[in-house]
Amino acid sequence: MDSGVRACVFDAYGTLFDVHSAAEREAGRLGIDLAPLSALWRQKQLEYSWLRSLMGRHVDFAQVTADALDFALEAQRISEPGLRKRLLGLYDRLEPYSDARPCLQRLRERGLTTAILSNGSPAMLAAAVEAARLGALLDEVLSIEDVGAFKPTPDVYGLAVERLKLPQETLLFVSANGWDVAGAAAFGLRVAWLNRSGAPRERLGIEPDLIIRNLAELEEFLEPQGHRL
Ligand code: LAC
Repeated sequence: MDSGVRACVFDAYGTLFDVHSAAEREAGRLGIDLAPLSALWRQKQLEYSWLRSLMGRHVDFAQVTADALDFALEAQRISEPGLRKRLLGLYDRLEPYSDARPCLQRLRERGLTTAILSNGSPAMLAAAVEAARLGALLDEVLSIEDVGAFKPTPDVYGLAVERLKLPQETLLFVSANGWDVAGAAAFGLRVAWLNRSGAPRERLGIEPDLIIRNLAELEEFLEPQGHRL
Protein backbone atom coordinates (compact mmCIF):
# COMPACT_ATOMS: atom_id res chain seq x y z
CA MET A 1 0.00 0.00 0.00
CA ASP A 2 1.70 3.15 -1.21
CA SER A 3 0.29 6.56 -0.52
CA GLY A 4 2.04 9.86 0.13
CA VAL A 5 2.20 11.26 3.65
CA ARG A 6 2.75 15.00 3.72
CA ALA A 7 1.93 15.75 7.32
CA CYS A 8 2.36 13.97 10.65
CA VAL A 9 -0.14 14.98 13.32
CA PHE A 10 0.85 13.96 16.83
CA ASP A 11 -1.12 13.41 19.99
CA ALA A 12 0.58 15.31 22.83
CA TYR A 13 0.30 13.57 26.21
CA GLY A 14 1.95 10.17 26.29
CA THR A 15 3.10 10.58 22.70
CA LEU A 16 5.43 13.62 22.72
CA PHE A 17 5.28 14.44 26.44
CA ASP A 18 5.80 11.98 29.28
CA VAL A 19 2.79 12.45 31.56
CA HIS A 20 4.50 10.56 34.37
CA SER A 21 7.49 12.90 34.44
CA ALA A 22 5.64 15.31 36.78
CA ALA A 23 5.13 12.71 39.51
CA GLU A 24 8.60 11.27 38.92
CA ARG A 25 10.21 14.64 39.63
CA GLU A 26 8.22 15.07 42.84
CA ALA A 27 8.87 11.47 43.88
CA GLY A 28 12.59 12.08 43.56
CA ARG A 29 12.34 15.25 45.61
CA LEU A 30 10.18 13.70 48.36
CA GLY A 31 11.76 10.26 48.35
CA ILE A 32 8.41 8.46 47.97
CA ASP A 33 6.92 6.27 45.24
CA LEU A 34 4.31 8.27 43.34
CA ALA A 35 3.96 5.86 40.40
CA PRO A 36 0.56 4.49 41.57
CA LEU A 37 -0.70 8.07 42.03
CA SER A 38 0.51 9.04 38.57
CA ALA A 39 -1.11 6.01 36.92
CA LEU A 40 -4.45 6.66 38.63
CA TRP A 41 -4.23 10.40 37.81
CA ARG A 42 -3.81 9.65 34.11
CA GLN A 43 -6.53 6.98 34.12
CA LYS A 44 -9.06 9.31 35.77
CA GLN A 45 -8.04 12.21 33.54
CA LEU A 46 -8.89 10.14 30.47
CA GLU A 47 -12.10 8.76 31.99
CA TYR A 48 -13.31 12.22 32.95
CA SER A 49 -12.57 13.55 29.45
CA TRP A 50 -14.55 10.74 27.79
CA LEU A 51 -17.40 10.91 30.31
CA ARG A 52 -17.72 14.67 30.06
CA SER A 53 -17.96 14.44 26.28
CA LEU A 54 -20.61 11.72 26.57
CA MET A 55 -22.55 13.74 29.15
CA GLY A 56 -22.29 16.97 27.16
CA ARG A 57 -20.64 18.64 30.18
CA HIS A 58 -17.43 19.97 28.72
CA VAL A 59 -14.80 21.75 30.80
CA ASP A 60 -11.27 22.25 29.55
CA PHE A 61 -8.46 19.73 30.01
CA ALA A 62 -6.80 21.82 32.71
CA GLN A 63 -9.93 21.41 34.84
CA VAL A 64 -10.21 17.69 34.01
CA THR A 65 -6.53 17.24 34.92
CA ALA A 66 -6.98 19.00 38.28
CA ASP A 67 -10.18 17.07 39.08
CA ALA A 68 -8.49 13.77 38.24
CA LEU A 69 -5.53 14.65 40.45
CA ASP A 70 -7.86 15.48 43.36
CA PHE A 71 -9.52 12.07 42.98
CA ALA A 72 -6.19 10.27 42.76
CA LEU A 73 -4.67 12.07 45.78
CA GLU A 74 -7.70 11.21 47.91
CA ALA A 75 -7.83 7.60 46.67
CA GLN A 76 -4.13 7.15 47.46
CA ARG A 77 -4.54 8.97 50.81
CA ILE A 78 -1.75 11.41 49.98
CA SER A 79 -1.96 14.78 51.69
CA GLU A 80 1.60 16.07 51.26
CA PRO A 81 1.39 19.87 51.62
CA GLY A 82 1.80 21.74 48.33
CA LEU A 83 2.02 18.56 46.25
CA ARG A 84 -1.18 19.21 44.28
CA LYS A 85 0.00 22.66 43.23
CA ARG A 86 3.49 21.48 42.32
CA LEU A 87 2.21 18.54 40.24
CA LEU A 88 -0.17 20.79 38.31
CA GLY A 89 2.67 23.26 37.75
CA LEU A 90 4.89 20.48 36.46
CA TYR A 91 2.15 19.39 34.05
CA ASP A 92 2.88 22.60 32.13
CA ARG A 93 6.50 21.55 31.68
CA LEU A 94 6.36 17.82 31.19
CA GLU A 95 9.49 16.15 29.89
CA PRO A 96 9.34 15.44 26.18
CA TYR A 97 10.28 11.86 25.28
CA SER A 98 13.88 11.73 24.05
CA ASP A 99 12.76 10.67 20.56
CA ALA A 100 10.28 13.55 20.13
CA ARG A 101 12.63 16.36 19.16
CA PRO A 102 14.84 14.35 16.75
CA CYS A 103 11.75 12.94 15.04
CA LEU A 104 10.11 16.33 14.54
CA GLN A 105 13.42 17.75 13.36
CA ARG A 106 13.91 15.06 10.71
CA LEU A 107 10.33 15.24 9.50
CA ARG A 108 10.71 18.98 9.03
CA GLU A 109 14.04 18.52 7.21
CA ARG A 110 12.22 16.24 4.81
CA GLY A 111 9.65 18.94 4.16
CA LEU A 112 6.77 17.31 6.00
CA THR A 113 4.24 19.37 7.91
CA THR A 114 4.16 18.64 11.64
CA ALA A 115 1.38 19.33 14.10
CA ILE A 116 -0.11 18.46 17.48
CA LEU A 117 -3.78 17.61 17.89
CA SER A 118 -4.52 17.24 21.57
CA ASN A 119 -7.18 17.29 24.23
CA GLY A 120 -4.99 19.81 26.06
CA SER A 121 -6.22 23.37 26.44
CA PRO A 122 -4.42 25.96 24.28
CA ALA A 123 -2.65 27.37 27.37
CA MET A 124 -1.48 23.96 28.60
CA LEU A 125 -0.20 22.99 25.18
CA ALA A 126 1.53 26.31 24.62
CA ALA A 127 3.30 26.00 27.97
CA ALA A 128 4.42 22.40 27.38
CA VAL A 129 5.60 23.10 23.83
CA GLU A 130 7.53 26.15 24.98
CA ALA A 131 9.12 24.41 27.97
CA ALA A 132 10.24 21.55 25.72
CA ARG A 133 11.42 24.04 23.07
CA LEU A 134 9.43 22.27 20.34
CA GLY A 135 7.64 25.34 18.99
CA ALA A 136 9.97 25.91 16.04
CA LEU A 137 9.48 22.30 14.95
CA LEU A 138 5.68 22.42 14.78
CA ASP A 139 3.57 24.04 12.09
CA GLU A 140 0.38 23.89 14.15
CA VAL A 141 -0.61 23.17 17.74
CA LEU A 142 -4.32 22.30 17.62
CA SER A 143 -6.50 22.03 20.70
CA ILE A 144 -9.88 20.31 20.80
CA GLU A 145 -11.12 23.43 22.63
CA ASP A 146 -11.97 24.77 19.16
CA VAL A 147 -14.59 22.01 18.92
CA GLY A 148 -15.52 21.83 22.61
CA ALA A 149 -15.46 18.03 22.99
CA PHE A 150 -12.65 15.61 23.71
CA LYS A 151 -11.10 12.95 21.52
CA PRO A 152 -12.29 10.43 20.37
CA THR A 153 -15.32 12.53 19.32
CA PRO A 154 -15.06 12.19 15.51
CA ASP A 155 -15.39 15.91 14.63
CA VAL A 156 -12.29 16.70 16.66
CA TYR A 157 -10.01 14.84 14.25
CA GLY A 158 -11.46 16.88 11.39
CA LEU A 159 -9.72 19.92 12.90
CA ALA A 160 -6.40 18.62 11.57
CA VAL A 161 -7.71 18.31 8.02
CA GLU A 162 -9.37 21.72 8.19
CA ARG A 163 -6.40 23.61 9.67
CA LEU A 164 -3.56 21.95 7.77
CA LYS A 165 -5.43 22.45 4.49
CA LEU A 166 -4.10 19.19 3.10
CA PRO A 167 -5.99 16.28 1.56
CA GLN A 168 -7.11 13.93 4.31
CA GLU A 169 -5.28 10.93 2.82
CA THR A 170 -1.94 12.76 3.08
CA LEU A 171 -2.20 13.07 6.88
CA LEU A 172 -0.80 10.49 9.28
CA PHE A 173 -2.05 10.69 12.86
CA VAL A 174 0.44 9.38 15.42
CA SER A 175 -0.56 8.51 18.96
CA ALA A 176 0.70 6.34 21.80
CA ASN A 177 -2.87 6.03 23.05
CA GLY A 178 -4.59 3.03 21.46
CA TRP A 179 -8.06 4.49 21.99
CA ASP A 180 -6.96 7.72 20.27
CA VAL A 181 -5.58 5.79 17.31
CA ALA A 182 -8.93 3.99 17.04
CA GLY A 183 -10.79 7.30 17.23
CA ALA A 184 -8.71 8.89 14.49
CA ALA A 185 -9.11 5.83 12.27
CA ALA A 186 -12.87 5.80 12.91
CA PHE A 187 -12.97 9.39 11.66
CA GLY A 188 -11.06 8.34 8.55
CA LEU A 189 -7.47 9.36 9.19
CA ARG A 190 -4.52 7.12 8.48
CA VAL A 191 -3.00 6.17 11.81
CA ALA A 192 0.24 5.05 13.39
CA TRP A 193 0.13 3.53 16.87
CA LEU A 194 3.22 4.34 18.87
CA ASN A 195 3.22 1.37 21.21
CA ARG A 196 5.87 2.60 23.65
CA SER A 197 5.01 0.13 26.41
CA GLY A 198 4.41 -3.08 24.44
CA ALA A 199 0.70 -2.91 25.32
CA PRO A 200 -1.78 -5.38 23.85
CA ARG A 201 -3.69 -4.06 20.85
CA GLU A 202 -7.02 -2.42 21.59
CA ARG A 203 -10.11 -4.44 20.69
CA LEU A 204 -12.11 -1.62 19.16
CA GLY A 205 -12.64 -3.10 15.72
CA ILE A 206 -9.94 -1.00 14.09
CA GLU A 207 -6.34 -1.89 13.23
CA PRO A 208 -3.65 0.81 12.89
CA ASP A 209 -2.02 1.31 9.47
CA LEU A 210 1.32 1.22 11.20
CA ILE A 211 2.65 0.11 14.60
CA ILE A 212 5.95 1.51 15.88
CA ARG A 213 7.77 1.15 19.19
CA ASN A 214 9.42 4.57 19.20
CA LEU A 215 9.36 7.72 17.11
CA ALA A 216 12.67 6.91 15.41
CA GLU A 217 10.85 4.05 13.70
CA LEU A 218 8.38 6.46 12.15
CA GLU A 219 11.07 7.70 9.81
CA GLU A 220 11.87 4.24 8.50
CA PHE A 221 8.36 4.09 7.09
CA LEU A 222 8.56 7.46 5.39
CA GLU A 223 10.92 7.17 2.46
CA PRO A 224 13.19 10.15 1.86
CA GLN A 225 11.84 11.10 -1.55
CA GLY A 226 8.22 10.17 -1.87
CA HIS A 227 7.15 10.10 1.79
CA ARG A 228 5.70 6.67 1.18
CA LEU A 229 4.01 4.72 3.90
C1 LAC B 1 -3.91 14.23 24.28
C2 LAC B 1 -4.06 13.19 25.36
C3 LAC B 1 -5.34 12.54 25.39
O1 LAC B 1 -2.83 14.79 24.13
O2 LAC B 1 -3.07 12.23 25.28
O3 LAC B 1 -4.90 14.51 23.59
